[in-house]
Amino acid sequence: MECVIKDFFQNPEKYYSKDVTISGWIRTVRDSKTFGFLEVNDGSYFKNVQVVFNNDLENFENICKLTIASSVEITGEFVKTENAKQAFEIHAKEVKILGEADPDYPLQKKRHSFEYLRTIAYLRPRTNTFSAIFRIRSVAAFAIHEYFQNNGYVYVHTPIITCADCEGSAEMFKLTTLDLKKELPKTEDGQTDFSGDLFGKETYITGSGQLHVETFAPAFRKVYTFGPTLRSENSNTKTHANEFWMIEPEISFCDLEGLMNIEEDCLKYIVTKVLERCPEEIDFCDQFIEKGLKDKLHKLINSSFVRIDHKEAIDILKKADREWEFKPEYGEDLAKEHEKYITEYFNGPVFVKNWPKDIKSYYMKLNPDGKTVAAVDLEVPGAGEIMGGSQREDDLETLRKIMKEKGINEDQLYWYMDLRRYGTNVHSGFGLGFERLLMYLTGMENIRDVIPFPRTPNNCDF
Ligand code: 4AD
Ligand code: MG
Repeated sequence: MECVIKDFFQNPEKYYSKDVTISGWIRTVRDSKTFGFLEVNDGSYFKNVQVVFNNDLENFENICKLTIASSVEITGEFVKTENAKQAFEIHAKEVKILGEADPDYPLQKKRHSFEYLRTIAYLRPRTNTFSAIFRIRSVAAFAIHEYFQNNGYVYVHTPIITCADCEGSAEMFKLTTLDLKKELPKTEDGQTDFSGDLFGKETYITGSGQLHVETFAPAFRKVYTFGPTLRSENSNTKTHANEFWMIEPEISFCDLEGLMNIEEDCLKYIVTKVLERCPEEIDFCDQFIEKGLKDKLHKLINSSFVRIDHKEAIDILKKADREWEFKPEYGEDLAKEHEKYITEYFNGPVFVKNWPKDIKSYYMKLNPDGKTVAAVDLEVPGAGEIMGGSQREDDLETLRKIMKEKGINEDQLYWYMDLRRYGTNVHSGFGLGFERLLMYLTGMENIRDVIPFPRTPNNCDF
């Protein structure tokens, strides 16, 4: 019978003493004069199955010469093993060689650096590490949809092509069909004239789905979007990519406290489901990527996250007995080293809320003090800021005033402002950086190693 390796691990009893057929790829070959062992992985499961073959097989010599990564189809008896490392193995009756791998296959059985593996990103999913990472990625994505669907949210597909400025137009990739090899048409005041471009105006690739998803909140109450996000920032760090995935919920009749409750609940749900559904992968990450990862994740589920004001965070940083590369200041952003200190100080996730208005976006709710906004970032050890959110400014006049202060073009955002004219209400939302979440879930230290094909400054291979 045709089987996948996952079934063997989940229900071995069903297969003992039966003939099974599997298809997969060779991970290792060991042979002696009369018999040998193959480790085969078929992609269905993190672990391999061991296949024993002997010189009764007519192609014994060819099997011994099999190269790593070759694809094979194997039929044999599924046998329970006693006192062996693995509980079962297959005794081959037939090994069909389907596609041999050239001997220069780069992933021979030795450890490779993550840097090197990035240069062969099209092969790295076949390594144990990336097999674990990308299955966790898939399971986490599903758990996120599940969380929101279970809790009555409507999934909205916000556009990739946009003319709306959410997180700063300077950080958005421009989109044009104008012929860049020719001289660009100019307007009277010397700017590029986009009137002859496909959309008849300047357009961008989205850097956030927030503004569009916000328009759905007054229709469906609770909504979310989950999609690719592009930012042209030239940040060569371990936590920034130019293409990443973001989850952005928006909740009507929800204030900042309510928002933090949802963020915490959502993160705990995702962690719970990943622990439940990827035990082998998490064990592997715990052993080889971040020692103590599993404990960290279990602890998160059972903790309640610390909530402090931005001002309190600065107080803590200022009291710290250490040298800073960037001196912490009230009214200023937190640097990486500050985020790290704060999460280590509390030894877990920390909500930093009520940020100085001058360093945050125009759409955030102005607090009664007139100086801070009802914004919140969730900081975690390692990945830093994984969620950024806020209560939204629901008062039209205040929004208009702040937009003016920050130089945001009202004309382009009239539709966003209209939401404040047609039944405005307290509402809040956040953005969860999917890759930062994965860094936290797996212990990987570089964002380039949790996304299949990373796009970072000077880096767009494949
Ligand atoms: O803090 P950000 O910029 O917030 C927004 O985009 C809001 N519109 C979200 C909202 O309220 N709906 O981004 C949100 C999250 C960050 O906390 C971070 O996890 C991630 O997106 N992020 C990045 N991840 C990888 N590479 C980058 N360059 C990122 N920039 C932001
Ligand atoms: Mg942010």
